[in-house]
Amino acid sequence: MDKLLIQGGKRLSGEIAISGAKNAALPILCAGLLTAGDLELSNVPHLHDVATMLKLLGQTGLQVKQDGERVTLNGSAITRLEAPYEMVKTMRASILVLGPLLARFGEAKVSLPGGCAIGSRPVDQHIKGLQALGAEISIEGGYIYAKCKKLKGTRIVTDMITVTGTENLLMAATLAEGETILENAAREPEVTDLAHLLVAMGAKIEGIGTDRLVIQGVPELHGAKHAVISDRIEAATFLCAVAAAGGDITLRNTRTDIMDAALDKLREMGLEMTIGDNWIRAQMNRRPTPVSFRTTEYPGFPTDMQAQFMAVNTVADGASRVTETIFENRFMHVQEMNRLGAAIETDGNTAFIKGVEQLIGAPVMATDLRASASLVIAALAARGETLVDRIYHLDRGYDRMEVKLSAVGADIRRIK
Ligand code: EPZ
Repeated sequence: MDKLLIQGGKRLSGEIAISGAKNAALPILCAGLLTAGDLELSNVPHLHDVATMLKLLGQTGLQVKQDGERVTLNGSAITRLEAPYEMVKTMRASILVLGPLLARFGEAKVSLPGGCAIGSRPVDQHIKGLQALGAEISIEGGYIYAKCKKLKGTRIVTDMITVTGTENLLMAATLAEGETILENAAREPEVTDLAHLLVAMGAKIEGIGTDRLVIQGVPELHGAKHAVISDRIEAATFLCAVAAAGGDITLRNTRTDIMDAALDKLREMGLEMTIGDNWIRAQMNRRPTPVSFRTTEYPGFPTDMQAQFMAVNTVADGASRVTETIFENRFMHVQEMNRLGAAIETDGNTAFIKGVEQLIGAPVMATDLRASASLVIAALAARGETLVDRIYHLDRGYDRMEVKLSAVGADIRRIK
């Protein structure tokens, strides 16, 4: 199991290129199931989750060609309408094959995703929406069996805002008969990126970027070319790193119009930023000011940035309060940060952080994707050596993080 060995206390300086967004790439790859044409994708990040998704899609018969960040898909020879447990158990986003397979082929067999470290994360809204579109769905032996000759458009109101739920139903609706209205739709930029690809494939979608998507079904979709949107979570992660460790870095290939909530909080922390349309220069020459926040759906403060901002708060000059409203167990990083000398107490879904002068390096363990990133940030700010174990969690969502950080002066290396 790989580990990251970090000597903290080094200021960061230089340039970091931001990769394509994991949470846009995963649904976009599944859109390849919707057409017999070619999908020519670029800016696809090198991530473990992307490799897992390509393997899963390849097993259905989808033809996959990968060349660096370019991926070409062709769905003219799909034969296996299934996502087996051994694939789904490692990546919940596998559920995103359900809508496309059902919409194009009239049936699908997809393993129920297990829970995960950050919460139970059921898929009841995905199922409820597909049943509303006319699918017959049964659950047996841990599998979802879905059947429907032809989905029929209807109005769907999800009980809560769900990102992959919106994406599954949106993809299904593009090939349904008639009009589908998705109320309470997720507005995350990654949902919008998927919608733009679907329109390029010939789908008819109104209300893109709003919480009400109106889709007119079409008989079939054709191929398209698309560049995956830049990863706003990766970008904010590196901005938190420089906010905690100090320095002067410039992020390249990033989208600055989709991360207002994070940028506002980073300014409040004292990060000085110059912002272009696809780059951000960030300088930090003082101890961070603490910031309090509560996570909410886009465009509010993203839950995927909660742990990283908490890491900066642990060394801020004062107290702060963080409330997690999306997942029921997304404070797994708290105990690990306290091992580094942080002063964090939790009460239900709220954490109270008292900033300390200095964290001290220690062995810690990653528990989930964004928790791992927050431990790297804390280790960069800590004095001495930190060993982060189980960094396979990190590799799921970050493209060679240690390489990017070493290039800007961090003393960080991977040990097998
Ligand atoms: C997506 O997960 C992201 N993953 C997550 O990113 C992100 O944290 C999350 O959205 C929230 O923004 C991908 O896009 C691949 P949800 P998703 O459905 O779609 C409940 C990362 O770090 N819910 O929006 O699974 C659910 O339990 C990952 O990159 C139901 O109850 O999240 C949660 O409490 C982690 N029933 C809330 O809704 C359902 O059918 C939001 O979940 C669906 C969701």
